[in-house]
Amino acid sequence: MSLPFPSLTAAEAAQLITHGDTVAFGGFTPAGAPKEIPTAIAEHAKREHAAGRAFQIGVITGASTGASLDGALAKADAISFRTPYQSDPDLRKAINAGRVRFFDLHLSQLAQHVRTGALGAVHWAVLEAADITPDGRVVLTSGVGAAPTFARCAEKVIIELNRRHPSALCGVHDIYEPIDPPYRGEIPLYSVSDRIGQPWLQIDPSKIVGVVHTERDDETGAFAAPDAVTTRIGENVANFLAAELKVGRIPREFLPLQSGVGDIANAVLGALGAHPDIPRFCMYSEVLQDATLDLLRQGKLKFASGCSLTLSPPALKALYAELHSLRGRIVLRPQEISNNPEIVRRLGIISVNTAIEADLQGNINSTHLFGKTMMNGIGGSGDFTRNAHLSIFTCPSLQKGGKISTLVPLVTHADHSEHSVQVLVTEHGVADLRRLDPRQRAELIIQKCAHPDFRDELRHYLALAKDGHEPFDVEHAFAFHRQFLRTGDMRGALSAPIDPAAREASLVA
Ligand code: COA
Repeated sequence: MSLPFPSLTAAEAAQLITHGDTVAFGGFTPAGAPKEIPTAIAEHAKREHAAGRAFQIGVITGASTGASLDGALAKADAISFRTPYQSDPDLRKAINAGRVRFFDLHLSQLAQHVRTGALGAVHWAVLEAADITPDGRVVLTSGVGAAPTFARCAEKVIIELNRRHPSALCGVHDIYEPIDPPYRGEIPLYSVSDRIGQPWLQIDPSKIVGVVHTERDDETGAFAAPDAVTTRIGENVANFLAAELKVGRIPREFLPLQSGVGDIANAVLGALGAHPDIPRFCMYSEVLQDATLDLLRQGKLKFASGCSLTLSPPALKALYAELHSLRGRIVLRPQEISNNPEIVRRLGIISVNTAIEADLQGNINSTHLFGKTMMNGIGGSGDFTRNAHLSIFTCPSLQKGGKISTLVPLVTHADHSEHSVQVLVTEHGVADLRRLDPRQRAELIIQKCAHPDFRDELRHYLALAKDGHEPFDVEHAFAFHRQFLRTGDMRGALSAPIDPAAREASLVA
């Protein structure tokens, strides 16, 4: 079918974008993120810089992207501001060096911020498509992100038509954009598999300034095979959920699962799949990873609703080959719907996300190393955790070869408060924090989750923090972190048992 839109090279498309523009890129994670045009913009930026001219753009995305988007633009020093989530090493470096202004958002809130204009004018939407019709119907690819809102709110749209994704993807997406307050009614999604929108994205054809043709894989990395630690974490989560099911705190039919990003999430899904007492279940999640596909095939997963197919390239290829048989059990939604708090609460989601560190009160740091170095961003973890029926955080008990305990007296940055976090899981065990007071919580976290190397030191901290409702000691709350920054090892921060009475006497003196 011939299209009424100009066919452009990526370089021609990049030339249209000018210094100071804000560009919103479709996709979610490297899945569905444009590849050719951002790389060409980066090349254009380098040429402009070489000629002594300023060139930077504001970059809005659905979530993280691939190396040819965030990586290429960061390396070219072509990004002024960036939101909402990223995981590219070059971009991370630029953010932490203060060269890119990065602000983090709950992913469910991004589209509304764009619609209200809170992020400023969006000059361009650059979207990857599997297919497009002359009247502007676009079939998206492996990730939806906030593409519907970007397409509607941007002044102009450029399409990257990527033939690596089959047009048979039509029907896998469910494109729905809610009406804004004060006119919004309920979002009419009552079960994981409900479809409430259109299988395609309708774009005003007069806004489409061109189509760039390409054939490139998503830049999703391979997942590491589960190791002893991630396997044990997965088993602990699965055993805990099976026990909850047995005592009736999870209904017989089970509840939909949200599972975070990375290797631990993959291991948790694998363990749930293998557990004989976990019934067939559904996912209502953000990213659908490789383990999701395995579980769909095995039949353990009845239905998977997500925002992206963040699959390794071989897994995505395999899914496309089996699309005819699996398509009825997968739906991809905009992030405003996949992560929607109203729906998370309604469906009774079990959320499982990963922490950088957790403290003895149950607060979680998901984003900042030592309180200041941005890792990726909060992503959807807050959308799910705060509203989940059962919220779980996982992490290995140690990092950096045992020199860092992820269980610390106080987190150095708080993304999720003790009020939202119900269960903590490491390779050592499960701390079910529900119905416990702050001191009981702290004791249980040390006993069940902390690595044995750090248990005594954490108990010494508790002995110091003996007054008040929360176990908190202002002088030693960051003793572990301080010790690491001084010596490169958290061990020994509070190794000598501290006699609180002696300490108080010394303070008075
Ligand atoms: N102190 C210091 N460094 C730490 C640390 C800590 N407490 N915890 C992790 N690190 C370091 C690791 O050593 C590793 O360093 P390296 O890259 O030099 O090897 C790096 O941080 C990444 O750690 P890793 O354990 O490999 O992380 P991961 O891939 O399992 O991701 C998060 C963990 C928390 C970063 C990731 O899950 C995330 O970004 N979460 C927030 C968003 C989210 O939850 N999204 C899902 C919602 S749907």
